[in-house]
Amino acid sequence: MNLILVGPPGAGKGTQAERIQQDFGLPYFATGNILRAAVADGTDLGKQAKAFMDDGKLVPDELIIGVLLEALQSADAADGFLLDGFPRTIAQADALGEALGKVGRKITAVLLIDVPDEEVVRRLSGRRECAKNHHTYHVDFDPPKHEGVCDQDGSKLIQRDDDKPEVIKKRLVTYHEQTEPLVDYYEGRDLLRRFDGSRTPTEVHDHVRATIATLRLEDAI
Ligand code: AP5
Repeated sequence: MNLILVGPPGAGKGTQAERIQQDFGLPYFATGNILRAAVADGTDLGKQAKAFMDDGKLVPDELIIGVLLEALQSADAADGFLLDGFPRTIAQADALGEALGKVGRKITAVLLIDVPDEEVVRRLSGRRECAKNHHTYHVDFDPPKHEGVCDQDGSKLIQRDDDKPEVIKKRLVTYHEQTEPLVDYYEGRDLLRRFDGSRTPTEVHDHVRATIATLRLEDAI
């Protein structure tokens, strides 16, 4: 199965991706995580991407497309993948479709997790992420057992640089202008599945898991 998660910032894509990986064992590629690791490591990619990320903008297509397509060519992704944060523009979607077509593969489904803008602001301003493995928490909705410490690996919880209120607003504008057109793009190709991201994480997960299980059955027939 080749699955894509799409949705506004803070919709819960990363939260659901963690659960989907546990359910279905799909290799997970999140361009936001890849870029943040590049920034932390001080690579050329990270140096070029940082200013865009800090300003709530997308990094240029020519920087990210090659990185993601290379990751998908790895042995890890040979039997399927779960993408989070890619594609984010029509040009990225075209490049992905073309690259998969060349090797006789196609997208199984695009999972849209949608939430209103005001909920995005509430969620991102309270989000905390573990420094080591990106496990996600929220100070009010999903707090860790011990403040500031990841339940799963004991590492420190941090706030992302782009979760500041002024950057959150810019990320929302970027989403509506550049990424939301993908909803029509994939709906027109009959690949889109919609999920109400304003439900609880468990309710969203139950719905997503049932949908993926059905897709897997259909795929096997
Ligand atoms: P990226 O890291 O992909 O950020 P994003 O898409 O803005 O998504 P987030 O990670 O902020 O949110 P999420 O939907 O995963 O929500 P989460 O599960 O954490 O990208 C960052 C930047 O990198 C971009 O701005 C761009 O600059 C660059 N970039 C990345 N990919 C790119 C690309 N392809 N092209 C160009 N540039 C690219 O949940 C959020 C919070 O809500 C958490 O605290 C969580 O605990 C809580 N929560 C989750 N679900 C629920 C729920 N159901 N109810 C209540 N609380 C919930």
